[in-house]
Amino acid sequence: MTTDLQRVFSGIQPSGDIHIGNYLGAVKKWVELSKTHDCLYCVVDDHAITVDFDPVVLSQRTFNAVLTTMACGLDPDDCTIFVQSHVPEHTELTWLFNTITPMGSLFRMTQFKDKARNALQRALDKKQGGARKTALFGLKKIGDTVYKLSEKMNGSLSNINPSEKFTPLMLEEMQKEVMKVNDYMGKILQQLQVGLGVADASCALFDYPVLQAADILLYKASIVPVGEDQEQHLELCREIADRFNKKFGETFPMVSRIKGDAPRILGLDGKNKMSKSLNNYIGILDSKEEIVNRLKSAFTDPARIKRDDPGHPELCNIFSYHKLFGKISDIEEISAECQKGTISCFDCKARLAVTINETLEPIRDRADELGRNPSLVIDALDKGRVRAGNIAKETMIEVKDLMGIGVNSLNKL
Ligand code: TYM
Repeated sequence: MTTDLQRVFSGIQPSGDIHIGNYLGAVKKWVELSKTHDCLYCVVDDHAITVDFDPVVLSQRTFNAVLTTMACGLDPDDCTIFVQSHVPEHTELTWLFNTITPMGSLFRMTQFKDKARNALQRALDKKQGGARKTALFGLKKIGDTVYKLSEKMNGSLSNINPSEKFTPLMLEEMQKEVMKVNDYMGKILQQLQVGLGVADASCALFDYPVLQAADILLYKASIVPVGEDQEQHLELCREIADRFNKKFGETFPMVSRIKGDAPRILGLDGKNKMSKSLNNYIGILDSKEEIVNRLKSAFTDPARIKRDDPGHPELCNIFSYHKLFGKISDIEEISAECQKGTISCFDCKARLAVTINETLEPIRDRADELGRNPSLVIDALDKGRVRAGNIAKETMIEVKDLMGIGVNSLNKL
């Protein structure tokens, strides 16, 4: 593999099934770039352990993630595929970057706050945790109660009939004031949830973006194909590279993001980003039946209540999937039929299932083949670990020399 090509790095967490959001947001682009660039792709298990995890499930998921990306088209002859924890320099460089990263920059990361809040919620749902979590949950309950109370007051006010005592104007003013309290409580509640989540989150979750910067900069990669949700992390990566270069000398390149076909795919709930943890996804390896079943409950255009109600394809999440997977002529036909109300949401979903399945079927077939020959995956990882490890070692020698640490720095005295 020639090394004078521009270097690309990207990663994926083994935290669940790889889904069509991962594929169209990143992995499909990884495959394209692997034909023209020097690409390193990594299954980031050190990132996956920043929230609660089961060791047995994790190692299986790590293997499955590598297998799935290979089934999507990654060829170990065209790129370097490896597992993050197999190259310990990732965590070593993270520690060094920690010394130049202000905590304020990390507190700004929205994914940290979201993940911290979700992790706390999951732990409480499973009734895990001791006195501290129970106390935190108690606080959240108080916030919830006050919020519900103000909502109730608002409801009561709207039931009062205007009289001499309360003119319509007075009632309207009172209702406005309660709405303000309501809004305010909503905001406090959100902050409280974030605060409680943050207090309970691991240091590693807080440090997650620094590890991500180390992943990229360890290989001096300048191109990172990722979805939109990673933009803030890349900004931090640029900030860290810049700080390091200014303090210790020009070492790291500026990093830019390359977009995939769809930078942010909504989940089947039509509300949140498609995500492994929210179970609102279609998995890359889902069977045809699973695709049909998952689509059944998916959110559609709310204006279509009866079968023949005219629809608004541009507002419908299902239509956005048609645009990503379908042929132009089919997309136009579905749009026209939806607007006329001549295709039902049920039939529209059935057609989508067929189209998505056409894309996923060959990937599933390759995955089956790799599943029957696991040594192909293991061999790819061995080769990947050696190549990634060699580059990583070189960078670490350079970085440590510049920082005046490591064995070499003493030899220079
Ligand atoms: P992860 O595992 O959440 O997602 C892997 C890739 O899929 C993209 N993606 C999406 N794209 C479009 N729509 C969606 N709904 C969607 N959901 C996920 C992500 O943007 C990502 O590109 N922190 C990273 C992994 C990572 C990494 C790195 C990436 C660790 N180190 C260094 C690049 C470079 C993550 O959690 O990705």
